[in-house]
Amino acid sequence: MAEPLMAQKGPYVEETEPGTYWWCACGRSGDQPFCDGAHKGTAFMPLEHTVAEKATLAWCGCKRTTTPPFCDGSHRAF
Ligand code: FES
Repeated sequence: MAEPLMAQKGPYVEETEPGTYWWCACGRSGDQPFCDGAHKGTAFMPLEHTVAEKATLAWCGCKRTTTPPFCDGSHRAF
């Protein structure tokens, strides 16, 4: 199985407005942590996530989290 690229060794901690977001799962997006369509031709698809209230969120940057789209500390293994 293909491995995602590691966009960043750590989360993208961002104050996030309510809305629907597409988290980049492939690691290739130029608009991290969100999808910009760069996954085309790979085995990866973005993950849709709806944020109900404004919050500071830790979006996974290493693309190896077991709790996507958020960081679970998996980047510490690399
Ligand atoms: Fe990475 Fe779309 S660019 S999932």
